[in-house]
Amino acid sequence: MGVEGDFAPRLPERCFMEEKRAVTMDKIVNLCKARGIIFPGSDIYGGMGNTWDYGPVGVEIKNNIKRAWWKKFVQESENSYGVDAAILMNSRVWEASGHTASFSDPKMDCKECKTRQRADNLIENYSKGTVDVDAMTQEEMQAYIDEHKIKCPICGKFNWTPIRNFNLMFETSRGVTEDSQNKIYLRPETAQGEFVNFQNVQRSTRAKVPFGIAQIGKAFRNEITPGNFIFRTIEFEQMEHQWFCKEGTDIEYYEKFKKAAFDFLTSLNFKPEHLRFKDHEKLAHYAKCACDIQYLFPIGWSELNGIHNRTNYDLSRHQEYSGKSMLYVDPITGEKYIPYVVEYSIGADRLMLAVLSEAYDEETLENGETRVVMHFHPALAAYKVAVLPLQKKELGGKATEIYRELCRHFMCTYDDAGSIGKRYRRQDEIGTPYCVTVDFDTLSDDTVTVRDRDTMEQIRLPISELVSYIEEKIKLY
Ligand code: GAP
Repeated sequence: MGVEGDFAPRLPERCFMEEKRAVTMDKIVNLCKARGIIFPGSDIYGGMGNTWDYGPVGVEIKNNIKRAWWKKFVQESENSYGVDAAILMNSRVWEASGHTASFSDPKMDCKECKTRQRADNLIENYSKGTVDVDAMTQEEMQAYIDEHKIKCPICGKFNWTPIRNFNLMFETSRGVTEDSQNKIYLRPETAQGEFVNFQNVQRSTRAKVPFGIAQIGKAFRNEITPGNFIFRTIEFEQMEHQWFCKEGTDIEYYEKFKKAAFDFLTSLNFKPEHLRFKDHEKLAHYAKCACDIQYLFPIGWSELNGIHNRTNYDLSRHQEYSGKSMLYVDPITGEKYIPYVVEYSIGADRLMLAVLSEAYDEETLENGETRVVMHFHPALAAYKVAVLPLQKKELGGKATEIYRELCRHFMCTYDDAGSIGKRYRRQDEIGTPYCVTVDFDTLSDDTVTVRDRDTMEQIRLPISELVSYIEEKIKLY
């Protein structure tokens, strides 16, 4: 027996053309707030710029994203090991890495309204993305702004201080006095926690080069950002994987990680045509070659992740600054060398925004209503199943029993409020892949209706087969 409420089948024509996507940043932000995915940070105090809190649905999706990444790059990656390093590190780490000296953004102060702006953002917005700011030197940026008399986006005046570099690291101090000896930083990337543990991991696991160290954790950057929701925030999570290899094999592994990073995204249901590689023109001081995978966000093509060939810069610098050897001794040949590193780095929150954008869809139903549906890969969906009793009083007991059993296997939700059509819509909006509807037949034959989010098709299944049916459908390969 099918359940009314979807007005299936869908109309053949969709509410958007093949190339025109329904998604906009506003729609994502509004849906996230309404459905408990992401709220503005410190909301009741009027928020705090560029901070966001994950709600009950959002935290599940983000955890699933992190789990999927860990599965691919630690669990299924031969010779890769995880760590969870401290956020607060010895300040010498940041001297060695070069962050204290040169981790900065080019900024200008408006002398009229006293706001601070990033020079590269000013040019990017003015030129509507037609100028490649990444390839410009600071002098070129200054000349461009002066020549085009780019005005302050806040007050509309053209009266800037010259471009100056501001360090992006958040400073704090340990202990009770605030002298420079006690100055420490909130880490601006997780990568250094992997580099400083190179010898610890290698020795404790007896790993042979090539091997990888992976980490997921918070990073902090004092960025001035043009909004854009969770695209760029001051506090975010990174998922980083450092692959330690011998010089000469680095290019091969760089290409391998480019492919692995791309394949990971398509395994999460990203359309290949929404992804592209972009080589870095201006390389970081440590890099031999580097590229981004860009995603077609609602704000346009933008960096989703980076793949960097960092040479042996990081380990060499840590050897120099710590005085501890970073040499690896090949157990077969006895050769000693400091390994090269191929880094793959992606923001969990940046990927979350991409996942939300890719999943968002609007469809016109037969009755003319619009259905908003998030087509997440089932492995990423917050709840795998929603249990919906058709009627509260007489079916609630049986539905609760089914819900409790399913909760032992997956994240599930339960909804008995409102018409079944409305309840389906709510689950579609948070991307629940399966709805299990309990009706009067369930009481006599122990079967339920299982409704598929994407096709809206419904099948009848014995309760005893539910777990294995859903388990198979939500697997991530
Ligand atoms: N260890 C290398 C590194 O940190 P990055 O390009 O600065 O490289 C890597 O950052 C990734 O981290 C980016 O591709 C992006 O996904 C994410 N990311 C960087 N800054 C971010 C920010 N302010 N907010 C959110 N995600 C950010």
